[in-house]
Amino acid sequence: MANDYLLEMRGIVKQFDGVRALNGINLQVNGGECIGLCGENGAGKSTLMKVLSGVYPYGTYEGDILWQGQPLRATSIRETEAAGIVIIHQELMLVPELTVTENLFLGNEIKLPGGRMDYDAMNRRAVELLAELNIRDVNVVLPVKQYGGGHQQLIEIAKALNKNARLLILDEPSSSLTASEIAVLLDIIRSLKANGVTCIYISHKLDEIAAICDTIVTIRDGQHIATTPMRDMNIDRIIAQMVGREMNQLYPQQEHSLGDVVFEARHVTCWDADNPQRKRVDDVSFTLRKGEILGIAGLVGAGRTELVSAIFGAYDGPYEAEVLLEGRRLDTATPLKAIRAGLAMVPEDRKHHGIVPDLSVGQNMTMAVLHEFSQATRIDAEAELRTVREEIARLKLKTSTPFLKITGLSGGNQQKAVLSKMLLTRPKILILDEPTRGVDVGAKFEIYQLMFDLAKQGMSIIMVSSELQEVLGISDRVLVIGEGRVRGDFVNDNLSQETVLAAALTH
Ligand SMILES: Nc1ncnc2c1ncn2[C@@H]1O[C@H](COP(=O)(O)OP(=O)(O)OP(=O)(O)O)[C@@H](O)[C@H]1O
Ligand SMILES: [Mg+2]
Repeated sequence: MANDYLLEMRGIVKQFDGVRALNGINLQVNGGECIGLCGENGAGKSTLMKVLSGVYPYGTYEGDILWQGQPLRATSIRETEAAGIVIIHQELMLVPELTVTENLFLGNEIKLPGGRMDYDAMNRRAVELLAELNIRDVNVVLPVKQYGGGHQQLIEIAKALNKNARLLILDEPSSSLTASEIAVLLDIIRSLKANGVTCIYISHKLDEIAAICDTIVTIRDGQHIATTPMRDMNIDRIIAQMVGREMNQLYPQQEHSLGDVVFEARHVTCWDADNPQRKRVDDVSFTLRKGEILGIAGLVGAGRTELVSAIFGAYDGPYEAEVLLEGRRLDTATPLKAIRAGLAMVPEDRKHHGIVPDLSVGQNMTMAVLHEFSQATRIDAEAELRTVREEIARLKLKTSTPFLKITGLSGGNQQKAVLSKMLLTRPKILILDEPTRGVDVGAKFEIYQLMFDLAKQGMSIIMVSSELQEVLGISDRVLVIGEGRVRGDFVNDNLSQETVLAAALTH
């Protein structure tokens, strides 16, 4: 019997080295609806969308795809794009050296009669496209690498909007966007929907899913669990379907005692790498007690990442910082020196600073502590592997083997691997910049639990986070940064979101 689905995926099986990432998934999509695709880290969401969009060509998976009732057997993204299926990937795919315009029109160039590129037309259209996303502070003729994660994400979205999609797939599009940027994105999706465009939206931010999706599809361990109209769902039910049990607590409440002040950052000042007149961080000082979890809150662009990078010796412009551990002044001129001195940092941008893509999961984890496994001139591979396996179990990191290339891990599991790499250095001070970005609710809980365990053992933790609920859920103290300065330093004794926001917004 013929059906009216815009898209149907039947019995999709995708294996990697004998491991089934997708185990016979079915997906049905009606024209014009917005589907929220939900599942834990490693459930198979990105893999399913890569099968659909031709990243994994026909022949490398089992099962059938029907697009507008016809079999779709694409062997490249070009083919699926020609059919009207456009995907925005979870990991950004922009070419850093090319200009914003060149990225926006890559493979989709506007040409003059005779075949030369029509740069004027492309630049004009680029400005228009960005304006639709409410972005007016991007110079389209500059290389994309000039812009931060949030802007790059928006540029990636603009690129997709330029392709006249019938089905738009958004895989974690909002993970580095500010609240107002997310609001713009959701509005765009609403207007696409009004124009008949179908969307599949993947996000661990379930409030976004609840706000725009008509239908919720949950998958777990590569299998379809349920398809439910959003009007019959709420966020708790989505979570329960994702994890297969009720989760009645999002933040583990654990008593831990605070010791004396062990760490101090004094007079941290950072200047913009491209504009030495401009201060990104302006004379910030704070202290940290033993076993304390300090949350650093503030709006995106407030200077939080710059502040912690400078403390860790990783800020890439001019800066000054005085860092003291247990009363002694530390040399933290480079990250390596900072690690030797007892600091560790898990960076915000995992793709560029956290992982080495060509190495395996295990190699990435032990990278910073290889000397501990060396005997004379060789590495004790057995001891190294034992440590890696222990860490994988401790963090419940989902990987088929420690020898898998790290890029084969799902986004959230890559994040766990980076965390593990830093924990192996046994730091006294652990700095986490957006530690739960792209991490599912269950794994978030595990990361918080781990943070409490570490704090109990006496480690002090600095956590930068844009999720205010998370900051309030687990910090002992909250430092609010605004325009590069300290705007508030609060003990978290039932601290309210309003108090923190008010501090972040005052001038
Ligand atoms: N290239 C690859 N090589 C080997 N295994 C892979 C590869 N890509 C994905 N996998 C495995 O397939 C499973 C599903 O991964 P996928 O990236 O689809 O998860 P996800 O649902 O998108 O998770 P997240 O929410 O963390 O992004 C994981 O166990 C992952 O390790
Ligand atoms: Mg994914």
